[in-house]
Amino acid sequence: MIKTDILIIGSGIGALSVASELCKFHRKVTVITKALTKSCNSSLAQGGISVALSDEDSYTLHYEDTMTAGCNINDPDAVLKLVSTAPEVIREFINTGMVFDKDENGNLAFGREGAHRLNRIIHAGGDRTGLRVVEQLLRNITTDVTIIQNEMALDLRVKNGKCSGVITRNSEGEIHCYHANYTILATGGIGQLYPSTSNDITITGDGISMAYRAGCRLKNLEFIQFHPTMLTIDGKAYGLVSEAVRGAGGILVNDKGEKIMEGVHPQKDLAPRDVVAREVYAHYLKGEKIYLDISNVKDFRKKFPTVTEICEEHGVDPDNRLLPVAPGAHFHMGGVEATPEGITNIEGLFAVGEVACTGVHGANRLASNSLLEGIVFGKLTADYIVNHRITAEEIADEPSPYTVGKLPDKAEIQIQMMEFVGIVRHSGKMQEIIDWFEQYMPDHKDFVRLNIDKTSNNQYEIYNMLTTGWLIAKAAADRHNSIGAHYIVE
Ligand code: SIN
Repeated sequence: MIKTDILIIGSGIGALSVASELCKFHRKVTVITKALTKSCNSSLAQGGISVALSDEDSYTLHYEDTMTAGCNINDPDAVLKLVSTAPEVIREFINTGMVFDKDENGNLAFGREGAHRLNRIIHAGGDRTGLRVVEQLLRNITTDVTIIQNEMALDLRVKNGKCSGVITRNSEGEIHCYHANYTILATGGIGQLYPSTSNDITITGDGISMAYRAGCRLKNLEFIQFHPTMLTIDGKAYGLVSEAVRGAGGILVNDKGEKIMEGVHPQKDLAPRDVVAREVYAHYLKGEKIYLDISNVKDFRKKFPTVTEICEEHGVDPDNRLLPVAPGAHFHMGGVEATPEGITNIEGLFAVGEVACTGVHGANRLASNSLLEGIVFGKLTADYIVNHRITAEEIADEPSPYTVGKLPDKAEIQIQMMEFVGIVRHSGKMQEIIDWFEQYMPDHKDFVRLNIDKTSNNQYEIYNMLTTGWLIAKAAADRHNSIGAHYIVE
């Protein structure tokens, strides 16, 4: 048994924001991460941080844009907390040494992305914001934080509605049992459940499925955001082309050069992401090729070094001004039900970042609100922990009798997810996908806890994908009307 006061599972911005804040109070923190510290969606995030810091902006405007993009099913109190706390938290972050891009007068430069009515997005290193934020947070943490890499969380240790830590297995095959007073789930989203995704390879829905097995309340699982512009060649996606490219003048065109967002939405190429993704997908299904025309984007290479790198690595020359694109799974609005302070229905268990559903994103997340959520609600979670003493109970872990039979491979799950619970869902087909998942339940009982000794980490990943996919399909089947990212036809 390894004893630690605060255990964080994951190493993205939500996780590191909690850790760096706790350092100010000299609390002992252990971070465990499935691969390397920077193998997370945060490090890949090209978009920036939306925050009402410019003179013409206010958090009320940010609130309204967030609610409108989320189709007003967002939790208004959580949104208000996010946008009103954000300016102060970001200023404090800048004071720790974080450098955001400046305009020619040396003031913060504000960019535009979809569904924002004014320029509100701050970036670092152009399209390298996520990585720069992760690096700054890593600089801000002290020796009070121990980071353990290449160790996968397998199951939460929960008894009588209280969490006492987690069981893990590292890349050497060693199983570890952690006893922690506070366990913070910060495992990210679910992108790898789909064939095309902007997400890191490690993002297989582990958090949601562990939380499900532990009896956590889950929320809004049907809402999955597809990003309209993944660089896509011969049907294969190679990385994101940031929405900021459209914010800087990029226009979506078909192979005849026609502007595809013309007449679809008043905000055209900068309409909410679900609207743009559906339109691109509709053209794609008709067999048309869709391009992002960057002829109007000034200083493309300088502003978008990551996109330039991805293009050049895959034989697309940005100087030809047409980038081939198609949508890919990007962000999960749903997740483990949590308050802005990360509190879940299980005592001692907190959820932060994409794995959490705090209600701020509603049915469709506003661009660049996710890094913001990780930073702001990460801080609020740390503040809560500092002010609330929890002592985890000593519990005995009983081995599960269940094992998995033959599992599908990951690609098969991805194809099923895209077909049945992708950008467009068919109400008449939802039971088919639910039944497909249920054939993989041990003894057809439920996606129950497994016997750890008899299940490899790779089998766990596939099992987690199946569990999360099944939960998403059930949530999608239960929502009969189209709203935001959940688009359902007969
Ligand atoms: C992007 O750069 O287009 C992604 C930004 C985001 O997901 O908010």
